[in-house]
Parts: sequence; C-alpha cells; structure tokens
Amino acid sequence: MNLADSEIVASLLSKDNYAIEKDINQADFILINTCAIRDNAEQRIRKRLRELRALQRTHQGLKIGILGCMAERLQKQLMEEEDNVSFIVGPDAYRNLPQMLDNIKDGEKLAETLLSETETYDDIEPVRYDTNGITAYISIMRGCQNYCAYCVVPYTRGRERSRDPRTIVDEARSLFEKGYREVTLLGQNVNSYRWEAESGKRKAESEEHDLFTNHYSQITNSVGFPQLMAMVAEVSPLLRVRFATSHPKDLSDELLQVMARYDNICKCIHLPVQSGSERMLKLMNRRYTPEWYLGRIDAIRRYLPTCSITTDVIAGFCTETEEDHQATLEMFRKVRYDYAYMFKFSMRPNTYAAKYLQDDVPDDVKTRRLEEIIALQGEIALENNQKEVGKTFEVLIEGVSHRSEGQLFGRNSQNKVIVFERGNLQPGQYANVKVTRCTSATLIGEVVDNK
Ligand code: 5AD
Ligand code: SF4
Repeated sequence: MNLADSEIVASLLSKDNYAIEKDINQADFILINTCAIRDNAEQRIRKRLRELRALQRTHQGLKIGILGCMAERLQKQLMEEEDNVSFIVGPDAYRNLPQMLDNIKDGEKLAETLLSETETYDDIEPVRYDTNGITAYISIMRGCQNYCAYCVVPYTRGRERSRDPRTIVDEARSLFEKGYREVTLLGQNVNSYRWEAESGKRKAESEEHDLFTNHYSQITNSVGFPQLMAMVAEVSPLLRVRFATSHPKDLSDELLQVMARYDNICKCIHLPVQSGSERMLKLMNRRYTPEWYLGRIDAIRRYLPTCSITTDVIAGFCTETEEDHQATLEMFRKVRYDYAYMFKFSMRPNTYAAKYLQDDVPDDVKTRRLEEIIALQGEIALENNQKEVGKTFEVLIEGVSHRSEGQLFGRNSQNKVIVFERGNLQPGQYANVKVTRCTSATLIGEVVDNK
C-alpha cells in the first residue's frame, strides 16, 4: 500500500516539475513514506532519521519530510521529537505536497494531516519509478473502518472509500498497453469495495459508459468487488489479476465464482486469520469464529481446488493463554497455509486494545509462541511445495534469478516463485514450467514448452 502511495506522490510532484533523484547526495528533499502498524516499523524510521543527520550537516538546505501513517499518527509531535524533520504529510493530504515544497523556507515546519472521506487520488496516474515493468499495484480503495482491537490503520488512514471503477480499469488497460502483465488490486478490505454513481449527472454518464455493460450483461450503477474483478480480468486474458487483502468476514461466494470463471484471475487468496482461538478473535473484534473461518476455507477449496491460501497471524495478543496459542497452531495444521506473515503483538497507542486491555503476555512468551508458529509453518510450506513436484505451471517471468544470471524466476498463478534455466526466454513472457524439486520458499523447475 505504501509503495502504491509513493507512486502517487511521485506523480503529483512530477506534474509540478519535481523529479526523482536516485543519488541521495544530490537531493533537495528526502521524503520518507512510513508505516505505523507495529512499533518496530516506526523505530526503523527513527533510526533512518538519525543516519540522515550526517548528510544534512554537509548538504545545506536539504529538507526531510515524513509521509504516511506515522505522520498521521504522531502529528506535530513527530517534528518536536525529530528536529531534523521539516514537514509531515498524512495519507490523504498528498495533493498539498507540491505547494509545500515550493514554499517551505529554511527553518520552517509544516504539517498537513487532515483525513478525508472522499480522497481516492483516482485521477492521478501513478509514476512507476521502481518497477520491473511487468507487475504493478493498483490502489482501489482507501481507509478501513473495521476497528480490529489491535490495529492502528482506521486511525491513520481514515474512513473506507472506493475509487471510481472506470479509472481502475483504465489504469489496468494503460499498464497492459505499456507491457505490464500482472496487476494487484489493493485495499485494506477489498471485499467491501463498493462504488455507487451518486449524482444524476454521474449516473447519466455511467449509463453511457460501456464498462458498465459487463459480463452480467446488464447496466449497473453500483459496482462491487466481484464485478470489478471481472471488469479488470476482461482487459486481456494475458493480464493477470491479483488482489489483497480480504477480510474473512466479507469473503463472498460470488467472488469465488468470478475467480473460477477467469483463468487470468490468479488462484491465490490472502485471508488473514490473526488467531485460531474463538475467545481471541472476539477480543480482537474480528467478527468471525474459527468455525466460520474454516467454512470459508472449505468454500475456497470447493470453488477453486488449485487455489493457494496465505495468512497473517499475531502471537501474544492481550490475555492470550497457552490454550489460545494451541488453537492457533491447530488452525495452521487444519488450513495448511502456503505462506504466512507472522507477527508478535505490538501495542499501538489509541487502539481499543491500548484503551481497554493489558499487554500482559511477557515478551519472551510472545517470542516463543511466534517461533513455534514459524517452525510449524515452515514444515507445512515445505510439505505443500513437495506436493507440487512433478506438476507443470504457467509462469509469468519476472526477471533474472538473484542467485545466477543463467536462471530466470517467475510466479505461478498460486503466487509461488519458480526458478528455471533461462534458455532464450525473456521477462514479461509466459512459460510452462515443470517443477523438479523445491525448498520451503521456492520451486525449481524446467521449461516444458514455450508460449
Ligand atoms: N501488532 C502486531 N501485528 C499487527 N498487525 C496489525 N496490527 C498489529 C499489531 N498491533 C498485523 C495483522 C495485519 C497485518 C497487516 O499486520 O496481522 O493483518
Ligand atoms: Fe486493521 Fe482490521 Fe482494518 Fe485490517 S481489517 S486494516 S487489521 S482494522
């Protein structure tokens, strides 16, 4: 999400005659886009700011700005604590950046952190400044109002709002025409994507627009996530479509049916579980039970038998007992995730947990529980990968392998990385690759025929 936001910032600034400077020693401004989700993300930024002091001493006039969730969370306090920061800009205020940079004087401190109920930057075409030219993110909505008890996002990114689907499809089409072959639609909770044509004028416009004559063969003034996925998938069968992130409470059968209908919608679902314990899920305000979550997993397997499933999990949330932790391990054994992002709970100021709960699981216990989850997941991922040996997958080639110039790497629909001999293939092409061996993180294979 931050990557996508940085591309919007780059676009807004390049319109105003600013350019990206790759040599940090030549830059007039350094903009640091920040995350506030866990304390260690914020500590990394503070460390970076300390490291930049030396550069600031030798480079008169160099100004540092903090963008994103940390700016939003800490507001002006951040500039008081970090005196080498000249300005801060929250996630909904990036349109003010060009004017800020134009006008800021030496010694001045500026802050723009107003959150918006409508800003989606839908008219801004992101500048893909650090890209492989093959895969890209498209932000389809902003904000979140699920208020999970541990999470700072609703406070730093504001209310949920969806972007005009026409601008999303146009962006996907323009990327495809430039040679991109995969887009990932991004939102905090994509399943609650919903765009309504509000005003009469807008309604009239959208009725004329052919995008709204989609595969449901009817004209509609309201677009939900399954329809949006279908529209993007129809840009071209050669354009792969992925999405992140789904909240389990909103994962609909309709979406699974659309995924089954289009080969180019990738068969990979990221479904953050957070905990396997019913009591923890309730305390976290996740609004589903373990049984309900497992029901969604069954639905995925039913509609999409080849689909990979990945997750996020938090170890050591407030009051978590050994029994709760065991329930999480049990959930991992039942679902057998292909990949998991695994975190130690980090108390965030202002959240429900900070206001009403105690961060009472000792750090060494959190660490041990996290390590147990990581170890179990490592075994499961390896076993899952071993089952892929002998199968052939269509792979979108993304680049040259980091290990060896003679090898390429790409991903299959399930988002698994596959490495294979280069031959005369190029990044951006599709190839059919047969898996010959694997590790827990990578499949290794050989090309069987060329497309
Ligand atoms: N502590 C640890 N992990 C967190 N996440 C969100 N908030 C916290 C927190 N306070 C994790 C969740 C979420 C992912 C993006 O980050 O697992 O799905
Ligand atoms: Fe945070 Fe929950 Fe929203 Fe995800 S769904 S961003 S965890 S509040």
